[in-house]
Amino acid sequence: MRIAVLAGGLSPERDVSLASGALIARALIDGGYDVALADVYMGIKGKIGDFGKLFTREKPELYIIGSCEPDLEALIASNGGRRAPVGENIIELCRAADVVFLALHGGMGENGQLQATLDSFDVCYTGSGYAACFMAMDKAVTRRVLTADGVPMADGFSAKASELRVDEVISRVGLPCVVKPNSCGSSVGVSIVDTEEELVAAINAAAAFDDIAVIEKKIVGREFSVGILEGSTLPAIEIIPVSGFYDYKNKYQGGCTREICPADLTAAEAAEASAVALAAYKSLRLEGYARVDVMQDRETGHFYCLEANALPGMTPTSLLPQEAAAVGIGYIELCCRIVNAAISKKGKKKG
Ligand SMILES: Nc1ncnc2c1ncn2[C@@H]1O[C@H](COP(=O)(O)OP(=O)(O)O)[C@@H](O)[C@H]1O
Ligand SMILES: [Mg+2]
Repeated sequence: MRIAVLAGGLSPERDVSLASGALIARALIDGGYDVALADVYMGIKGKIGDFGKLFTREKPELYIIGSCEPDLEALIASNGGRRAPVGENIIELCRAADVVFLALHGGMGENGQLQATLDSFDVCYTGSGYAACFMAMDKAVTRRVLTADGVPMADGFSAKASELRVDEVISRVGLPCVVKPNSCGSSVGVSIVDTEEELVAAINAAAAFDDIAVIEKKIVGREFSVGILEGSTLPAIEIIPVSGFYDYKNKYQGGCTREICPADLTAAEAAEASAVALAAYKSLRLEGYARVDVMQDRETGHFYCLEANALPGMTPTSLLPQEAAAVGIGYIELCCRIVNAAISKKGKKKG
C-alpha cells in the first residue's frame, strides 16, 4: 500500500512538521508501507511521469527543529517568490497514494483548506475532516462552539487586534490574561500578560500573526494535554516548563520542559481531564486522532479546555505519541492505526 506523507508547508510550524513527517515516514516504512515524503509547499519539481516510482522503502533523513520559528519570507524568496501553499505535483502525488498522511501543523494543512481540497479529488487522508479542522484551528470559533456545548473554557473573547483597547481587555477579562493570535499553534505569538504595559506589546505580538486576537483570563494551575485516538482518550500528560510558560522554545528544545505521563492525578481528576478533552473532541467533530490542551485551576481543582489540535505533533517524543506509549501503543503501531482509521472512515462514507 502506498502512503504519501505530507509535511512542511508554509506555516510558522513548518519545521515541527518536517521533523514529524520524516519520523512518520520511517515508521510507516517499518510498518510495511511504501512511502513518499513530500514538502507540501516546496512541491516535487520537474516532470514526474510515473508517480508510483516516488513511493519507496528507503528511509528519509531526519530533520532537526531550530530554537525559533522559521523565516517564511526567506523561504518564499528561496522558492522563486511562490506564495501558493500547495506546491507543484503535490495533488498528483496524493492521487497516486492509497492514503495521505497529513504530518502538517498549522496553516492550510491544519485549518481544513487542504482537507477540503483533498475531498474534491476523493483522496483518503488521515485525521479530521475540513469542518473540524477549521473549527479547531480558529481559536475564536473553538471558543464559541465549545462554550455553546458547555465545555469549560477560561473566560475570554476575541476581537480584531487593531481595534482592541487596553481598557476593554481590563474590564472584560482583567489581569493577568493571555493574548493569542487566532489561528496559530505551537504558542507562536502567545503572551502571558501581568501588567497593562505588557498588554500593548502582547496585542502587537499576536497581531503580527493574525488580524484577530483571542484574550482569555489566565488560568493559574497545572497544565496537561490529553490525546484522543479513534474516539478514546489516552492518559493525560502533565507539562512542566523549567522556566516561563509552555512557549515555542519550551515545546521543542530538549530539557526545557518536564513531561510526566501518565500525569500524577487522582482517578477523579484524570476522569475530569479526559471528559473535558473528549467533550471538546466531540463538539468540534474531530476524527481519527487529535489532542486537547487543558489546565486545572489551582483554586477550584476543575479542568478547562485551552484549545484542540486537529494535527498534533507526531515525533515519538511529542505529547500524543508519549501518551500512546504509556498504554503500550508504540510509535509504529500508532502511525499505522492512524492510517487504518483513515481507511475505515473512507470505507464508511462509501458504504
Ligand atoms: N487561559 C490560559 N491560561 C493560562 N495559560 C494559558 C492559557 N491559554 C494558553 N496558555 C498557555 O499558552 C500555551 C499556548 O496556548 P494554546 O491555547 O495551547 O495555543 P497553541 O498551542 O495553539 O499556541 C498553553 O500551552 C499554555 O501554556
Ligand atoms: Mg496548545
